[in-house]
Amino acid sequence: MIRLVLLGGPGSGKGTQADRMKERYRAVKISTGDLLREEIRRESELGRRAKQFMDKGELVPDDVMIGILDKMTQAFETRAQSYILDGFPRTLPQAQALLEMLKKQGVNLTTALLIDVPESELVRRLSSRWTCRNCSATAGYPDGKPDQAVCGQCGGELYQRDDDKKETILNRMKVYRKNTEPLIRFFEEKGLLTRVEGFGDPDSVAMRIHETLERTLKS
Ligand code: AP5
Ligand code: MG
Repeated sequence: MIRLVLLGGPGSGKGTQADRMKERYRAVKISTGDLLREEIRRESELGRRAKQFMDKGELVPDDVMIGILDKMTQAFETRAQSYILDGFPRTLPQAQALLEMLKKQGVNLTTALLIDVPESELVRRLSSRWTCRNCSATAGYPDGKPDQAVCGQCGGELYQRDDDKKETILNRMKVYRKNTEPLIRFFEEKGLLTRVEGFGDPDSVAMRIHETLERTLKS
């Protein structure tokens, strides 16, 4: 049973790697970004509230995010289901709330896995990213997307996320540095941080994550 947090800047490959890891570890991926985009698509109250922040590359307020997570992880705990958190926590209050919640449930976080990628590479990846409308898988087209390209996973339609515009990408980087980067130290001080270099193609990164996690799980 694993309970993982994936940390890393926007575009570091959290979604890409969570999709690979969920099969290997028979885990569920909980992506708060995907979840919020689904609420926006459904035009729910939560979606309307979140969109205002997401379109600008700002974070959705902590009270909203902490409220959502509570319900989800409880459901997984009762089913003894491993899970990977992609995009949560993103602030110190969210991280504190997560650890408190796990403590209440009487369980531990396996580790917070940081996918470390330089900012110039993050901007390059996000500017060329296309996302599947159906299954949220992503593909990078640095030279432009061919007209007939569809999702490699399910054949669904590809679109560019509203927050993958140049100015919004730069703001997301700023927000990451200010609000989320401090979590690296937070988890490190608790002996809960595992670091992996995120450069190279997705398969090499997946291999590196696998080797590193195996060591962490044994220790
Ligand atoms: P979210 O959807 O979580 O966005 P993000 O953190 O900005 O991360 P991304 O999804 O952009 O990147 P990723 O790390 O998943 O990379 P990916 O695998 O796609 O959040 C969006 C918004 O929702 C936030 O801005 C905020 O407003 C709100 N939100 C969500 N959670 C929140 C929370 N907890 N609190 C408050 N607000 C919250 O890869 C990127 C691209 O690179 C893809 O094209 C991929 O194909 C390619 N790629 C991946 N790996 C490689 C590789 N090794 N080499 C080359 N290309 C690669
Ligand atoms: Mg993602």
